Amino acid sequence: MQFPYTRGRRLRYTDAIRSMATETILTPNDFIAPLFIMDGTNGKEEIPSMPGYYRFTLDLLIDEVREIYSLGIKSVLLFVKVADDKKDNEGTEALNSGGLMQRSIRAIKEAVPEICVMTDIALDPFSSYGHDGIVKDGQIVNDETVDVLMKMSVSHAEAGADFVAPSDMMDGRILNIREALEDGGYINTGIMAYSAKYASCFYGPFRDALDSAPGFGDKKTYQMNPANKDEALKEIMLDVDEGADIVMVKPAVAYLDIIKLAKENVLVPVSAYHVSGEYSMIKAAAQKGWLDEESTMMETLTGIKRAGADLIATYFAKDASKLLNK
Ligand code: PBG
Repeated sequence: MQFPYTRGRRLRYTDAIRSMATETILTPNDFIAPLFIMDGTNGKEEIPSMPGYYRFTLDLLIDEVREIYSLGIKSVLLFVKVADDKKDNEGTEALNSGGLMQRSIRAIKEAVPEICVMTDIALDPFSSYGHDGIVKDGQIVNDETVDVLMKMSVSHAEAGADFVAPSDMMDGRILNIREALEDGGYINTGIMAYSAKYASCFYGPFRDALDSAPGFGDKKTYQMNPANKDEALKEIMLDVDEGADIVMVKPAVAYLDIIKLAKENVLVPVSAYHVSGEYSMIKAAAQKGWLDEESTMMETLTGIKRAGADLIATYFAKDASKLLNK
């Protein structure tokens, strides 16, 4: 029997050798921890479609953020659940300087000033229609929405946000938000643009978490068609040109090719959002005993990083960091 002198298995022979030959190494530094915040005090509610993930009232959230930072995670991404009676078509509550989002930013920056606070910019949690923009005659109107997103971004920056993260997919919002931040004197407030955000079924559990599902229609006139790749690169390049400091691809697992494409074409950090449905699938299969939760989690996150993600927003941020810190 003849063998080649090159045997791939030599590099897999022991734990030590496998470890030396590892190309992709996850660290807690890679993760952004999304957080769901609700009104009230002393409250922590599990999201039924996201087992093991919670909405917190602001008082309890502070301890959660302290723990997140102590695990080595450098950033949180904030989402608020807004009461129905505060929702309207224009997202008025989004601009309230005493609103839950603005209060949360201030409280976190006061308690854990070192952590990078990122905030979601889009109208859906504030919209009576559950859409990311203002609705007129059944359409989601672009330019009027951008106007509100600019004010919302300045309001978050004023409260102390380090980064705003527009997730709405309106045209021209990055340039206009950048200009609004500069005009307001917030020259160091960054923008993480959800640049290639697809109209995905994987956001379902998130919409349960915030009670933000669209009241009519879907989001296909602004979020991207999952079949498209060139269009993703176009959106990503546009956002970089308009002033995005970080670009994002979302979801992650079904879009690894898009993450790779982004990484190969831009010189800003690329983030990927491992979204709610992607989290819940793993949880559900693990609960049924069909998959091992820890190894599925780590393999998935490693795959996202290997594809080219410099940062990963994931509901597994804490669990994965605890494992990595062992
Ligand atoms: C809001 C927003 C969504 C997510 C992040 N920001 C939902 C949507 O666009 O409908 C989804 C995140 C997730 O599923 O984990 N614009």
